[in-house]
Amino acid sequence: MSNTKESWGSRVGLILAMAGNAVGLGNFLRFPVQAVQNGGGAFILPYLICFLLMGIPLLFIEWSVGRYGGKLGNHSTPYILDSMSKKPYWKYIGVFGIFTNIAVVAYYTYIESWTFLYVFHSIFGTFTGMGKEEISSFFDNYVNLTSSDLGIPLLPVVVYILVLAINVYILSTGLGGIEKVAKIGMPLLIFFGIVLAYRGWTMGADYASDAFPDANAWDGINFLWTPQYSSLADPKVWLAAAGQIFFTLSVGMGSIQCYASYMRENEDIALNSVTAGFTNELVEVLLGSAIVIPIAAGFLGLDWVLENAGFGMAFQTMPYLFQQWGAVFGVVAGVCWFGLLFFAGITSSLAMGTPWMGFMHDEFGWGKVKGAVSFGLIALAMGLPTVLFYQYGYFDEYDYWGGTVSLVIFALLETILFAWVFGMEKGWAEITRGADIRIPGAYKWIMKYVTPVLLLLVFIGALFTPEGNNWAGAISALFDGQLYTLDPGSLISKISHGDIKAQMLLNPENSEFLEKKMFYSTIARTQLILLFLAIAVIVWYSNKKRQSALS
Ligand code: TRP
Repeated sequence: MSNTKESWGSRVGLILAMAGNAVGLGNFLRFPVQAVQNGGGAFILPYLICFLLMGIPLLFIEWSVGRYGGKLGNHSTPYILDSMSKKPYWKYIGVFGIFTNIAVVAYYTYIESWTFLYVFHSIFGTFTGMGKEEISSFFDNYVNLTSSDLGIPLLPVVVYILVLAINVYILSTGLGGIEKVAKIGMPLLIFFGIVLAYRGWTMGADYASDAFPDANAWDGINFLWTPQYSSLADPKVWLAAAGQIFFTLSVGMGSIQCYASYMRENEDIALNSVTAGFTNELVEVLLGSAIVIPIAAGFLGLDWVLENAGFGMAFQTMPYLFQQWGAVFGVVAGVCWFGLLFFAGITSSLAMGTPWMGFMHDEFGWGKVKGAVSFGLIALAMGLPTVLFYQYGYFDEYDYWGGTVSLVIFALLETILFAWVFGMEKGWAEITRGADIRIPGAYKWIMKYVTPVLLLLVFIGALFTPEGNNWAGAISALFDGQLYTLDPGSLISKISHGDIKAQMLLNPENSEFLEKKMFYSTIARTQLILLFLAIAVIVWYSNKKRQSALS
């Protein structure tokens, strides 16, 4: 163990870095799609409730756990959790807090590389004069590695490595570099977002065309913002809302704990964490919902959006729509949009590098350059297959197991450790020490009972999702003492590839492709498991080292 004195330069820097960690591709790409797929206004209430009852408590927990760990010289979750209990196994649960970051960074930087490249496509007018279909297949060709644009067939690989290298370089300059990127990137992305959101809010029906006479941006906004109370009884929407809250706030991942471990002992947590959390929510609900959906609805109509909502819209549809604003503003909008995504992405992917670097520094004295480069190499080994086998779902596999399931498991265990093992009294004292605002006392009770129960429900709901998401039917079947059929998308079915097998039954003509998909999914899972085990072995080894240093 070495005693790092490294800490954040200023309070603004800390808040911007934490907000940068949270504000990411999730806010602009994932949120609108989740909201649309879950009924628009139906999504918003469960989403806000999950923010208040899971998001905020987890922010308090992770910030205070991190600051507590940092005081003892631990900057990543294995030994932070270890220091909170006498039991030896918590450090292995802490492996999640390094694992998730590496699993996610592998595919996250791939999306980041698209945004990076698309900034240049916008500037150089690559899409000028291209039709809607052309722009859309331009993207498909790129990710399916069939494109030879610019004459480099493996351009996606090259750009991916370049963006990873930019991340490694910034990481090698330490917290100072991260802080600087956040201080430049966050204001810029908010500015870009406001420019685009302004268009989203003001375009109305001005761009309705012969092909889409009913197009109106307001339909998109109304669809997202008209609350529907009936959704409160739909577990499927709750699951999606909770998943989005996790991903967008970066909770259950280990990167907040790592950032917080570089705080000073009595630095405020209450106000800082809430500020960073609300900044993320403002960006998500105000800007994230005012761009893709309204603009697409303004040109193509809400029906088109409902049918086509997906993550590809950002790269396949938006560049085409921007063209319709004319040569000059078309370029401006393209640069704003992809620039915004790039800054949102990089301030988050940097956060994903810090737990590994912190761990190797604490335990093995690795410096910043060694830490950053080794992180880059591991991310590359994990990420290259997601680039090469994107079309076979390698990417989705990482996102599901590393970017969704792991977060919930880790957050649940961490909440239990905090509120029940470490103890709520001690925990509350940690959260409130140095606080600049008074946190409502109800949160003590929420953290102890409500948050873990909700987390458990979310997890069980994902494990045993009933067929067709028909919870009402499933629950009444259970009351009648019968088991119900699981949905192919439930976690349990997914383990044995139930989801892919169900698709095979539906589309037998596709079975060759689906067989391949199954094969690559197995390899992807193997890779994830090996990553987890490798980190666990390093933790085990470091522990042996610690023990022998003591004796
Ligand atoms: N919150 C980020 C987003 O909305 C994603 C993110 C940030 C993340 N840090 C992370 C994901 C650490 C996994 C691990 O896009």
